[in-house]
Formats: sequence, structure tokens, C-alpha cells
Amino acid sequence: MNKLRILSGMQPTGQLHLGNYEGALRNWVRLQDEYESFFCIVDWHALTTLYDRTEEIKYNTRQVAIDYVAAGLDPEKCAIFVQSHVKEHAELHLLFSMITPVPWLERVPTYKEKTENLQIESASYGLLGYPVLQAADILIYKANVVPVGKDQLPHLELTREICRRFNFLYGEVFPEPQAKLTKYALMPGLDGRKMSKSYDNAIYLADTAEETANKIRTMFTDPERKLRTDKGDPRVRKCPVFGLHLIYNKKETDEIEAACKSAELGCVDCKKRLIKAMNDKLEPIRARRRELEQNPKQLDDILAAGAEKARKAAAATMAEVRSAMNLD
Ligand code: TRP
Ligand code: SF4
Repeated sequence: MNKLRILSGMQPTGQLHLGNYEGALRNWVRLQDEYESFFCIVDWHALTTLYDRTEEIKYNTRQVAIDYVAAGLDPEKCAIFVQSHVKEHAELHLLFSMITPVPWLERVPTYKEKTENLQIESASYGLLGYPVLQAADILIYKANVVPVGKDQLPHLELTREICRRFNFLYGEVFPEPQAKLTKYALMPGLDGRKMSKSYDNAIYLADTAEETANKIRTMFTDPERKLRTDKGDPRVRKCPVFGLHLIYNKKETDEIEAACKSAELGCVDCKKRLIKAMNDKLEPIRARRRELEQNPKQLDDILAAGAEKARKAAAATMAEVRSAMNLD
């Protein structure tokens, strides 16, 4: 039986937080049963911005790999691997760069943002080529489906354009990949804004129960509840603590909303209940995380086996590509 293929990846720019888990990883865990799956840690992509912080990339590559496995990606079911371990990605990236017009790349919103907002003095060749490398990541596995967030749609569209252009020039080698948007509840951060590493408002999969509790104690609540006796309206005024109850403590949300509205429940007790619910849900992930942290060899083996599986698929595609381009 031929399963469809999926590929997705994340940059090792930090440990993964609960927003990454709900927004991507948890979905991947489900998809690994339905598809032939490849999950990559794209360390070369991280170099487009962190080229002078390579130690960090090295550390975070292992941290993200631990997060993947702890979250439930199963090395028996899918390939979990590091991009730079499969050199074929670089070869395909180079070949794609020959057929990708520069204006296609200059139009990409993430490129424009990074060059305009972050005040990078002069953008590197690699940063401009970021989506070309991403196209190579995807097409080298002939992935049919790519689970990503909305922000990645322009990259996916470019991948499809490169795919069509290659097939037009050299013959049908690649299937056109489809984006698969992940539906998920927006994860509120500690300050009520969207959870994000760059806002410093995140709870990480790597946080201990104690660290999680401390973070929740500092969370913003309904701004109209200054006194314990003030009545709240957590849904309407978007109390982020309530937002987390909606994700981690579904069965108590109606009761909590009512008790907050009548001021029977105070924020301190409400947070205690959230801490309990979240720590219960997260404990299995943390237990697997601790185990992997203590067993570097186990992680090495997972990544070696993942790279082996990936390399086999990538090499098969590259043989076809070379032949199609008369490079064989
Ligand atoms: N650009 C993606 C991000 O920042 C990471 C990525 C690189 C990726 N290659 C990929 C995602 C291939 C999906 C498929 O999130
Ligand atoms: Fe938010 Fe809970 Fe306080 Fe209500 S009681 S404002 S839901 S923290």
C-alpha cells in the first residue's frame, strides 16, 4: 500500500513552547499514522539569521529533537532528522536556485519583513534563498502534503511554483505539494498576547512543573478584576488564564466562567486549578523529555536512523533529478 507522504520542519531557534505544540506538533503526531512522514529540524535555515550564533543552533537542534520525540513523534513510524545530515538538500537547493527568478524571492513577505523591520544592514544571499531551500526540503521527498501554519503559505506557494517550473523544463519529476493548514485554538501567552518566544511570554515543553506554576502565578487576568470582590467576564475580556483553561481544563470551564462572573472564585484559586490541570496534562511529555535528556546516545540513534531513512528517499529523487537535467 502506498501512503501519501508528508514533510514538515521547524527551525532550531529555541526550545518549543505550548503554542508550537498545539499549533503544529500535536497535529504531526496524529498525521504520522496516516502518512509516510518526514519531520525535519532545519538547522541550515536557522543560519539565515543566526549565522554568528552557531553554538546556539547546535544546542537547539538537539532540544527541538527532544521536543519532537517527547511530544509523541515515534521514530518507528516516521523519520525524525536534521536537515544538515542529509546533504542532498543542498544539492537540490543549488539546482533550484538556477531556475528561480530573483523577483519571486524579493516578493516573499518574510524576506521583506526580515530586511525591513529587523534592520539587517544587507541581506545575505542565503536569506533571499530561504524559500528555495525550503522547496528543496519538501520536493526532495516528493511530499504530497505539508502541514504548516498560515504564515508559511507564501513559502508553500513558491515551492509549488518552483515545482511547476522544474517539471516544465525537465519533465514531470515532482508532484505538486499541498499545504495542510493546522486548525488550533490560539495559545495565549502569559501577558495575554499570542504565545511567542520573541514576546518572552511562553511556557516551554522543557519547563518543569514548578517553573510552569511560577509562570502561571505571574499571568495577567481580567483587567477589570482589581479586587477579589470585583466580578469578572473572562471570555469577553479575554482573560489569558481562562484561555488556557479552555485548552487544558475543558471540563471545568463552564463552572469557572460562572464562578468568575459572580466573584465566587478568585484569580489565585483559579490559577491553582489551572496549574494542576496543566501539569497533569504535560507530565507524560516531560517524563519522556527527562529520559531523553539523560540519554544522549538514545537521541543520537534516533537522529541517525531518521537521517538514514531520509537520505534513502532523498537519494532516489536526486538520481531522477540528475538524469532529468542531464547531470548523470
Ligand atoms: N520555514 C519554516 C518555518 O519557519 C521551516 C521550514 C523549513 C519548513 N523547511 C520546511 C516547514 C519545509 C515545512 C516544510 O516554520
Ligand atoms: Fe481569569 Fe480566573 Fe481571574 Fe476569572 S478568576 S479573571 S478566569 S484568572
